[in-house]
Amino acid sequence: MSGAASKTERAPVSAESLQIWHPFTRAVEMQELPRVVRGEGAWLITDDGRRILDGISSWWVNLHGHGHPRIAEAIGEQTRRLEHVLLAGFTHEPVERLAEELRRVVPAPLEHIFFSDDGSTAVEVALKMAVQFWRNSGQPEKNEIVALEHGYHGDTAGAMSVSDDSLFTAAFAGMRFPVRRAHSAYCYRCPVGLKRESCHIECADSLEGILREHGDSIAAVIVEPLLQGAGGMIVHPVEYLQRIRALATKYNVLLIADEVLTGFGRCGRMFATELAGIVPDLMCLSKGLTGGFLAMGATLVTGEIYNSFSAPEPERAFWHGHSYTGNPIACAAAVANLEIFRTEPVFERIAKIASIHEERLPEFARNPAVGDVRAIGSMAAIELRAGDAGYLSALRPKLYRFFLEKNILLRPLGNVIYVLPPYCIEATDLHRIYDTIEEGIHLQ
Ligand SMILES: Cc1ncc(COP(=O)(O)O)c(C=O)c1O
Repeated sequence: MSGAASKTERAPVSAESLQIWHPFTRAVEMQELPRVVRGEGAWLITDDGRRILDGISSWWVNLHGHGHPRIAEAIGEQTRRLEHVLLAGFTHEPVERLAEELRRVVPAPLEHIFFSDDGSTAVEVALKMAVQFWRNSGQPEKNEIVALEHGYHGDTAGAMSVSDDSLFTAAFAGMRFPVRRAHSAYCYRCPVGLKRESCHIECADSLEGILREHGDSIAAVIVEPLLQGAGGMIVHPVEYLQRIRALATKYNVLLIADEVLTGFGRCGRMFATELAGIVPDLMCLSKGLTGGFLAMGATLVTGEIYNSFSAPEPERAFWHGHSYTGNPIACAAAVANLEIFRTEPVFERIAKIASIHEERLPEFARNPAVGDVRAIGSMAAIELRAGDAGYLSALRPKLYRFFLEKNILLRPLGNVIYVLPPYCIEATDLHRIYDTIEEGIHLQ
């Protein structure tokens, strides 16, 4: 069926005709929804022939471009051979190859990999493993979690508990487990009122205070390393993450690095923790793991953590799994993704994006409508000064629609406009995004 024929058969989707419940979308905000029929590099192509530039990698998942042939072929081939088999009591070549490929790029101490379905489940697994590790080690009282202000780790119950209080979590207060919360290094809105140029990362003292007082009951600290995404694309100083690592070690708690967003090159190195020169005890991966083709999560842990689960007593085992754990098709996509890192100049592309961010951000920093600009690797963010900050700021839907009318997909987080493109984006297209943002900020 041709694109044109399918267009005539299908009415445009609108809020009124809505049967599909769209994520993070209020029905009242929905106008007509573009119907995407194809993806090509950094572009999304709709059934009426529109070409929309994907400035946020389709919620931060796409790495090398939509429809990258190597991943598409790997998926096709694997589908014909073996679509799925349970991973409990079985193994298969794609999962073994993926384990090998991942072990080449993650820090050596992260020896063991537990596969799950997405970012939220990778976080759930990490939280449960951290708590059970202490139980298995004879310290069951160490079962609390410390997380950061402005953190976001997903929408399932545990991931939502460790995420900061927000509009997203407000309805679920009763079902979130209690978490101790430490300051984030949000330099633009410094939680301790200092200036980055002259501070000594005093914001990390709040974590030290919590660990000093409650370390005996704490299992782990969970952080989004160097870049807090959904909380507003907040970039942390490297020293802050290094200090967190040192504090976790000092007070004998595990460090969980949620690299669901930052993994696979987003911050300019394969992992954000690598950029800071630290190794966490547990690492959560998803989003870019399959290059943005299929949902998959992974939680990596040290040998010490794994070994605590391997004693013969049944209560020591990790009783957790998902139907599609280690799905062979997702594994094949992830293997192809990691091969692309080896065979294409991916880090040169990321460096090119970073250099354009560096070139374009200063002009925004001088704009009186802009409060802060920040960047790390392929991500750049522009925080506007608008009075009603927060996810539901009045400006957000206006900006979103304005960008979409210009055929650019950007989804500001409140008053924070950010760019996080697939690595294959052409320089001229990235400049076009910046030119359009420049126009957009005058909407206020
Ligand atoms: C840092 C981080 N952790 C976890 C998640 C949850 O991932 P998913 O949406 O795949 O469940 C996200 C999603 O944006 C994220 O940014």
